[in-house]
Amino acid sequence: MNLRDFLQELEKEKKLVHVEKEVSVEYEAANVIYSLNEKPVIFDHVKGYPFKIFAGITSDRDIIAQGLGTTKDKLLAKLVDALRHPKQPEMITNAPCQEVVVKDPDLSTIPLLFHLDGDGGRYGSATVATIKDPETGRNVCYHRLMEIGKNKFTARLIKKRQTRTTYDKTDEDIEMAVCVGNSVAVMIAASLGPPPGVDEFSLANALDETKMVKCVTKDLEVPAESEFVFEGRITRNLDREGPFVDLTETRDFERQEPVFVVDCITHRKDAMYQALIPGRLEHKMLMGMPKEPTIYDEVSKVVSCKNVLVTMGGGSWLHGIVQIQKQHPDDGKKAIEAAFNGHKSMKHVVVVDDDVDIYDPQAVEWAIATRFQGHNDMIMKPDQPGSSLDPSGKHEEGKKTLTTKIGIDATIPSDVDKKKYEIVKYKTVDLHDYLR
Ligand SMILES: Cc1cc2nc3c(=O)[nH]c(=O)nc-3n(C[C@H](O)[C@H](O)[C@H](O)COP(=O)(O)O)c2cc1C
Repeated sequence: MNLRDFLQELEKEKKLVHVEKEVSVEYEAANVIYSLNEKPVIFDHVKGYPFKIFAGITSDRDIIAQGLGTTKDKLLAKLVDALRHPKQPEMITNAPCQEVVVKDPDLSTIPLLFHLDGDGGRYGSATVATIKDPETGRNVCYHRLMEIGKNKFTARLIKKRQTRTTYDKTDEDIEMAVCVGNSVAVMIAASLGPPPGVDEFSLANALDETKMVKCVTKDLEVPAESEFVFEGRITRNLDREGPFVDLTETRDFERQEPVFVVDCITHRKDAMYQALIPGRLEHKMLMGMPKEPTIYDEVSKVVSCKNVLVTMGGGSWLHGIVQIQKQHPDDGKKAIEAAFNGHKSMKHVVVVDDDVDIYDPQAVEWAIATRFQGHNDMIMKPDQPGSSLDPSGKHEEGKKTLTTKIGIDATIPSDVDKKKYEIVKYKTVDLHDYLR
């Protein structure tokens, strides 16, 4: 379902909040989004701007599933299927996102948000960025953008991610187009992080039809129904980026990052700007949830994988739970290694049997308490490349963060009396027979 139809559907089902009162982009909009617990919202009147702002369309699994035309229990299967069967999108020439073309762009006309006191500037954060790598082709992912001038942002390009890798291979500027105001399919696809060479827009199109259009000034393609497109170049100039809050809800520090010069902005006539507050639900869902199918795929190559969860408690990035149907003694350990392959930034993973509810943290803890012995069932991997987001990692300027990874095999050991490991079950009685 495209974004406009989806918002209409949410409106009909009374799942969309309209804020009619005028709001400011300086902290106020972010605070209202936070106070609404990131329910889908549209701000009808934004102080100083003709554009509406919306947020919250990927803030929980139910809404994401609805946006992809499925249900929560079928979401993992739908994502796995898209990853296995990407579909090349259709190109069109007459696109809503190019109804208005601004060739001398001025970012002060765009309702970028100031999110929190202490941020380095106004930020774009629901920013789906696309580039072309001469060897691996089109890449799509998120890069937060901090406004630093009339037509300039600094772009956070994390090391080893595709945009940074492409940028580091050359001395030239790199063309980049940033789309803001996207369908759920585009937003999810942009955060899937498939292997290099897999086109995320083809994943978006496999999730839900996503037509594309050529940019006006760059040799790049963007979803035809995006609300705004910022066409520009990542230059060789560096400037201040940050501080800004990241996924762990801790403050990411100021760095020198490449300057993204915006040469042209295209948008719909009645464009709606998309906000996404950093560190909170929507950011967490978009980071962690799309890693579940990539972990599932890797684990399925070595054992029978039943389910995967990237947990909110681990910042929706650092911790995973993998549920398997154990058939061989070393299945748990194989699953651990594969899970780390499926999500390179994961730091701790717990593998459980299929009688353990992975959505219940107490059940997972119970499995660790009753089925796990540290000296036998733990894999510890020191000095691994890890997540830049973990404050406890070893961070050195210009180098990949190092971390210790731990895998916990909390499955029932083989060659034991399985009965001893099963949770007993009382019967529920009809209390009417016992109480007055
Ligand atoms: C809301 C959101 C914001 C993100 N911001 C950034 C960012 O500023 N810089 C960055 O390098 N990655 C950022 N990411 C992560 C990348 O989009 C993600 O890791 C990507 O899938 C990596 O894939 P790639 O290696 O193919 O580029 C963000 C992700 C989300 C969901």
